[in-house]
Amino acid sequence: MSGRRSVQPDAEAVARDAAEAIAQAILAAAAVAAKPFHLALAGGTTPKRAYELLAARPLPWPRVQFWFGDERCVAPDHPDSNYAMARSALFERAFLPAANVHRMRGELLDREAAAREYEAALPPKLDLLLLGIGPDGHTASLFPGSNALREKARRVVAVTGPKPPPNRLTITPPVIAAAARVLVVATGAEKATAVRCAFESDTDPIECPARLLRDAEWHLDRAAAG
Ligand code: 6PG
Repeated sequence: MSGRRSVQPDAEAVARDAAEAIAQAILAAAAVAAKPFHLALAGGTTPKRAYELLAARPLPWPRVQFWFGDERCVAPDHPDSNYAMARSALFERAFLPAANVHRMRGELLDREAAAREYEAALPPKLDLLLLGIGPDGHTASLFPGSNALREKARRVVAVTGPKPPPNRLTITPPVIAAAARVLVVATGAEKATAVRCAFESDTDPIECPARLLRDAEWHLDRAAAG
């Protein structure tokens, strides 16, 4: 991972830039090996346009296995569901084999069981992990001060956070550290403080989880780059 920052003039240009980087990663992997490409998607709203642009690309979709960095504990067709966002922006447009999409079952009442179920299925090393960041510096559903940030063994845990909806499932820092490549997308002035704290050498990841992404590849607009 590089810590490299690609800064574009606006959110649409960031979406194009990120979609291109993801497409090139999928094509490069498909060119050298017959094994699946394990891609974990970010939630929230920022990546939606990049997913739409990606869906329009003629990529070897059967080679791509889709995972999620986190999920809200809502039904998979709920407007707050990260899976629902990815389904409408990407899966339905790219005509992906349903078996290639591995969603977190956030709708289960037993959230611990849902976390353990996903942890058992999640590959030990993702080929590409997409993440966003919140204004408070959270990433995935790892929020400032959360015990999940101290997790060294578990790879998926149930958490309750300040961003509604509060109950979520999330990957933990070991999954981020193990990923072959991490790509962060952030746009808008409200993310500038979090971006800055990610790169400040004395920031504690417990206070600013984006610090865990300091060596990742960042795709920013000018407003988020500060
Ligand atoms: C979530 C996301 C979260 C998101 C950031 C940014 O489920 O909420 O995983 O980490 O990436 O909060 O969200 P926006 O893209 O909506 O600003």
